[in-house]
Formats: sequence, C-alpha cells, structure tokens
Amino acid sequence: MVLSTGTKKIKTAVFISGTGSNLKSLIKFSKLKKSPISIDLIISNNPRSKGLKFSKIFKIKKKIFDFEKKKLAESKIIFELKKKKINLICLAGFMKVLSKNFINNFDGKILNIHPSLLPKFKGLNTHKRAIMSKDRYSGCTVHFVNSKIDSGRIIIQKKVKILKDDTAKTLAKKVLTQEHILYPKAILKIFSL
Ligand code: GRF
Repeated sequence: MVLSTGTKKIKTAVFISGTGSNLKSLIKFSKLKKSPISIDLIISNNPRSKGLKFSKIFKIKKKIFDFEKKKLAESKIIFELKKKKINLICLAGFMKVLSKNFINNFDGKILNIHPSLLPKFKGLNTHKRAIMSKDRYSGCTVHFVNSKIDSGRIIIQKKVKILKDDTAKTLAKKVLTQEHILYPKAILKIFSL
C-alpha cells in the first residue's frame, strides 16, 4: 500500500453531497483504537447536505465548495487538503466527478463506495437497474478511484440478496446497512496489506 500508518492515524477527508450516513459510520469507526484513520475534514459541494450536521456533532471542520466553477473548486480543495496534510480521501455519496488532475494529485489515495457489485451498474440508479435485470444479488463495493467512473481497483465487496418483492427503495436500505460495515472493513484491509 502506498500509504504508511506509522503510529499516528492517517488524516482523512470525507467528501459528501447528501445524507452522510456513510460519513457517520466512518467517523464512528475512526474513533476506535483499531482504526488507522482519523477524520479531520468534511467536504461538500452542497450546502444543504444533511450530512454536514455531523461536523457540529463530532467537532470536525467542514468546507463547502461550489462546483459550478469546478476547476476553481478543485484547486481550492487541493490547497485545503495539502494544508491540513490530508493523506486519504473517502468519497461517500459525493455526487461530483473529480477531474483527472485532481485524482493525479492524490493518486492511490482516493476511495469510493458504490451501491452495486461493480463492474455491474456503474453510475446512478443502481438498485432499480439490478431489480430490472432480475439479478438474484446486488450489493456494494469499495474501490480506489481512477479517472474512469466507478472503475478503479476493487478493494472489497458485499453481496445482498434481492428478494422477489424488493423495490429499489427496500434494496437501497439493505445495501446501505451493509455499506456502513463495508467501508471501515475496506480501510482496515488496505492498511493491513
Ligand atoms: C450510498 O448508497 C453510496 O454508496 C452512494 O450514495 C449513497 C450515499 O449515502 N454513492 P449516504 O449519504 O452515505 O447516506
């Protein structure tokens, strides 16, 4: 693994756009002794993200950047991350696509969680598409981020059975519960390599 833990925890930023339930589970995980990471910064493109409330609850600094001017937003974020010596980025329901330039600045240090069994169902509406395809299983994936959407190296996956009366909503709920367990597991896995 490109990162090394040493004795101090790895400073991590979590990027969100919405509810932030994965952010919450990562924060809780980060407080455990066994966690190799600390969460030091929350970044959002959306000032109305519900998940921003966790900044106040857990006393973690938050920053909001307007992606209407994406290039500018990204260069401000890079400045902020370097200033705070952030060494790991966890995308958690972050709805903006990061540029190649941004990704190159943190090569091998950006993770994402995606609500499908990649390489199946990259992009949006994963649960609906899994049900429409009559798949027996869906699930979630944590992967490294590269410049192609939802295509970086897979770290870990968890399968979830699709029942015949599942809707996109019920499936999303079941998968999300597993996401909260999977993201911390992925982090433990990459730092034990
Ligand atoms: C999750 O399903 C995640 O996999 C996807 O967006 C959702 C975010 O949920 N990328 P939350 O904001 O963490 O609650």
